[in-house]
Amino acid sequence: MKKRNTKILVSRIFPDLAVDLLEKEGFSVTSWNQDRPMTKKELISRAKNHDALLCTLTDKIDRDFLNICSHLKIISQYAVGYDNIDITEATKLGIPVGYTPDAMSDATADIAFGLMIAVSRKMFYLHKTILKKQWSSFKPTANLGFELKNRTLGILGMGRIGMKMAKRCKGAYNMDIIYHSRKKNHSAEKEFNAKFVSFNDLLEQSDIISVHCSLNEKTKGLFNKSAFNGMKKSAIFINTSRGLVHNETDLIEALNSCRIWGAGLDVTNPEPMQSDNPLLSMENVAVLPHIGSGTMEARKEMARLAALNIIEFYKNKKIPNIVNPEVFK
Ligand code: DGY
Repeated sequence: MKKRNTKILVSRIFPDLAVDLLEKEGFSVTSWNQDRPMTKKELISRAKNHDALLCTLTDKIDRDFLNICSHLKIISQYAVGYDNIDITEATKLGIPVGYTPDAMSDATADIAFGLMIAVSRKMFYLHKTILKKQWSSFKPTANLGFELKNRTLGILGMGRIGMKMAKRCKGAYNMDIIYHSRKKNHSAEKEFNAKFVSFNDLLEQSDIISVHCSLNEKTKGLFNKSAFNGMKKSAIFINTSRGLVHNETDLIEALNSCRIWGAGLDVTNPEPMQSDNPLLSMENVAVLPHIGSGTMEARKEMARLAALNIIEFYKNKKIPNIVNPEVFK
């Protein structure tokens, strides 16, 4: 396929590598250079004049967008999650969608693991007490958290990131691993002696629940009042996948009523979270601004994979990491 006249729209400021690789292959690349996502109108008006789009989770690639921009030959998503894209519609229109799995598995598992420790020891909250000049003296019975060794970790979504979290928790704390997933993960069962359980058993038996599933109709709002009520009162809830998997009002209520012990969130709904959100002042809560994949290594690899999906599509009609392979059948 001819590349010189092929126009690629890059929707955000990504690591340079993405544009460098595309330009080296002879594509004509236009990048959105502002430090904010394009509005829907801005995105549509630019995408209309391009052949392919490199985008990310802040771009709403919905039915509307896709039907106006049905001429796009490929959409390459810079992320492992692609819930911002209407995949059913893209597939109907014959538009292949690439994504960047695994590039951020270690980085995201580190954040889940870090949040778990931070919550169990109230780290974020206690840090703030120093800023508020509330550190008076060493107090033998104050500021107590709990230890994680030999606890039960419950993983929702035993994919690549879930596996990395299981590995960390097994290695550091000899945790028992239970999981609920779309299908059984035999590697997890072999490597970590992980046990597949029903969703209700996951809620009931876990000391820590870590969410690593994708966001879809089945997982949207899955952690609601009834789920939190099904958890141990001593449990910690960790979410590093998508904020819409938990219902924030129900989570706040579960924490306020001591229905669960604590929560660590790298994802919220909406994002960004407002600075007066009650979760931010709770003792047993740690919140981060969606930084799971935020390492230089992961972001660079995501840039490479996102560019490669476009390059390989135009070179060989193949997309190394594709969400909807059925478009080629
Ligand atoms: C993803 O890849 O889906 C993360 O949420 C952002 O990197």
